[in-house]
Amino acid sequence: MPVPYSEIVMEHFRHPRNVGRIENPDAKAVEGSTACGDMVAVYLMVDEESQRITDIKFESYGCASNIATGSIITELAKGKTLEEAKEISWQQASEALGGLPPVKTHCSVLAVDGLRAAIQNYEERHGLVTEQKPTTLEELRRRLRHVMNPAVGLDIIRTKLVEDVSLENGVARVLLDFPADHQFANNIRDEIIERIEPLWDIERVEVEFTE
Ligand code: FES
Repeated sequence: MPVPYSEIVMEHFRHPRNVGRIENPDAKAVEGSTACGDMVAVYLMVDEESQRITDIKFESYGCASNIATGSIITELAKGKTLEEAKEISWQQASEALGGLPPVKTHCSVLAVDGLRAAIQNYEERHGLVTEQKPTTLEELRRRLRHVMNPAVGLDIIRTKLVEDVSLENGVARVLLDFPADHQFANNIRDEIIERIEPLWDIERVEVEFTE
């Protein structure tokens, strides 16, 4: 049965605003949905002084409602300060789209999570995180849950690629049960580093492969 989308959703799906990537962005994040395995990437440019989002782009590897929500939240976020943009909710995005079918709620949650993760990435990169708790192994694992295994489109924790995670004196070490010469090995390594390195007390990230 086709999903009943509103006219606005269809219009944003057909002509999404702010689609694409920003080269050398001030911040970026890739989020994956645990519900469907789809992904969204969000890129930001931020004016350091005013903390306003001067440019924002997204790439969606999700469905029509994810693309439409990505389009609407990037429109809502552009020109806002980081604090204002943090307040954008999936309900607000869904309302602006004339409503989304309940079965598609997770798709808009995914887009909003992508925006929030990109803002968090900016704050971490710029030392703006006020609450500086020491990083735990649990936090490292939580971040690894957002790194996708491109071979299957699910995260590397769920696909049991992570054999071991350790943390000692600011050095995070991740051991992967994956061939080092695999075509995706470098992508996975880079994504792990990107996810973990911004943490304030991490000095180095080492990714090793068992094979
Ligand atoms: Fe995966 Fe919509 S079904 S983002």
